[in-house]
Amino acid sequence: MTPDEPVELGRASGPHGEVVLRRRGPVTELVVDGVFAMDDVDTSTERALAVEALRRCAGDRLRVLVGGLGLGWTAATVLAENRVAAVEVAELQPALVGWAGAGLLPGLPELPRDRLELHTADVAVLLAERPGRYDAVLLDVDNGPDFLVHQANAPLYEEAGLGTALAALRPGGVLAIWSADPAPALADRLGALPGAADVEHLVLPVERDGRRFDYAIVLARRGAQRSAGGPSGRSSGRE
Ligand SMILES: C[S@@+](CC[C@H](N)C(=O)[O-])C[C@H]1O[C@@H](n2cnc3c(N)ncnc32)[C@H](O)[C@@H]1O
Repeated sequence: MTPDEPVELGRASGPHGEVVLRRRGPVTELVVDGVFAMDDVDTSTERALAVEALRRCAGDRLRVLVGGLGLGWTAATVLAENRVAAVEVAELQPALVGWAGAGLLPGLPELPRDRLELHTADVAVLLAERPGRYDAVLLDVDNGPDFLVHQANAPLYEEAGLGTALAALRPGGVLAIWSADPAPALADRLGALPGAADVEHLVLPVERDGRRFDYAIVLARRGAQRSAGGPSGRSSGRE
């Protein structure tokens, strides 16, 4: 076997398509529903999603929602911050949650069960069910708003879905969204939402195989004026 030949660690099919976890030499790869979701050649931006959001959160005993689990790097970075008391992770693929339990995810080889709750769930459902609950909501469920892994995630990046995500925050809480490309339109949509404050668009250059990629993180704070129940009449728009 050559070092470039992938070794399959797990493969499972479920209601949201197939998920494959494989190792190619030292690199672990995740393919979701036939779409390359990620590998761990450079996880700096998955970790930056957590670092940048937590840096903007005041206080301690923080409660954080991460959607989705992937290879576990964002969740592990949140857990490494000692101001964080509780981390909930929403992951659509039951197999990934199982592989996390079996220690197969390189980012999260051990699960600190006292601070971590793994939900096999659509993050949009959790967001809609839990208004006013989180100090930070971190979304990395696609390759970005313009390159979806699941078409059903599209409403997350629209006005209603963003409003629901903001409403899941406590006043002053921080929403952060990862994207494989700069996403100025997403930042503009967030900036236009009543109750959103301090919108930022960070471009994070990463070099891979001699090529430069500009990944991005879009951040917004829930301002004080949004009611704890969220925007009336809005839903996540997801079935
Ligand atoms: C790119 S990976 C996340 C990578 C992660 N940030 C890390 O550090 O490893 C995207 C994950 O989101 C999951 N996902 C996609 N849509 C979702 C949804 N609506 N709710 C919850 N998880 C979802 C996928 O199954 C996949 O595990």
